[in-house]
Amino acid sequence: MIFFSPAKINLFFRVLKKRDDGYHEIASLYQAIGLGDTLTIELHHRDELSCTDPLLATDERNLVLKAVHLFRKKTGLAITVKIDLHKQIPIEAGLGGGSSNAATTLWALNLLAGSPVSFQDLALWSCELGSDSAFFFSKGTAFCTGRGEVFSSLENFSIPTSQKLWIAKPSYGLPTPSVYQACDLSLITPRDPQEALSRLAKGEAYYFNDLENPAFTLIPQLAILKKNLLELGFSSVTMTGSGTAFFCFGPKTLTPHLPGIKFYATTPLLREDHDWYKTPQI
Ligand code: C5P
Repeated sequence: MIFFSPAKINLFFRVLKKRDDGYHEIASLYQAIGLGDTLTIELHHRDELSCTDPLLATDERNLVLKAVHLFRKKTGLAITVKIDLHKQIPIEAGLGGGSSNAATTLWALNLLAGSPVSFQDLALWSCELGSDSAFFFSKGTAFCTGRGEVFSSLENFSIPTSQKLWIAKPSYGLPTPSVYQACDLSLITPRDPQEALSRLAKGEAYYFNDLENPAFTLIPQLAILKKNLLELGFSSVTMTGSGTAFFCFGPKTLTPHLPGIKFYATTPLLREDHDWYKTPQI
């Protein structure tokens, strides 16, 4: 069986405070997008994982195999699988690729096992694999809080289609923990997440990310990249998650080119109830 595993962007991203457990309390509007990986999964006599990206480990460190182990541990089922992961989502980009792969694996295993687990339990279990995984059990647009794992799907929310959405990714990445570590909470503008939600719902391009400045401190070139992207003609350029990718809205006529930057044309993506994300037709 073949499953689509989408990336996400954060239309806005607030870092609220540092918690005692080392995580940060956040409030963010997450959106699934059509850029994604595919997982081909079948029942097999033992676990086997292959991946098109040679930079990704295919052993127990891979979130896909962690998800397989978690599913077995939680259900007590002796299910083993062969998985081929076709990677399109860049890593260390803030696009949630690993978390999405983990969520997709849990969904797929449950389906292969005859759906013994509720959708809510799968979402709950996925939190053990990463703060972003639970989001992928939402319907594709969700307001996320806690460390990112508490989500509520927004059903009638749509981002404007008058402009085209692009992802811009430089060749270098950033590990999430370093970006949070570089985040000085006293320097953040305390924007109200509820106000951000209502401004976006009204169609205002109120996109921002509290992790941009920490990421720019770690890699000053990122600030220059943002400026260069705006100069290409995009009307908004915002970093997603802990970076280093940016999501950019611009006129439909704009086809961007910048040396060393990979551009992906994409669209927002939604999921039907009791179904997983389908490969979008662009
Ligand atoms: O949950 P995830 O594995 O994605 O988190 C990776 C690291 O990023 C955490 O160990 C933590 O250092 C940092 N993090 C954080 N606050 C969050 C999410 C992640 O500080 N809300």
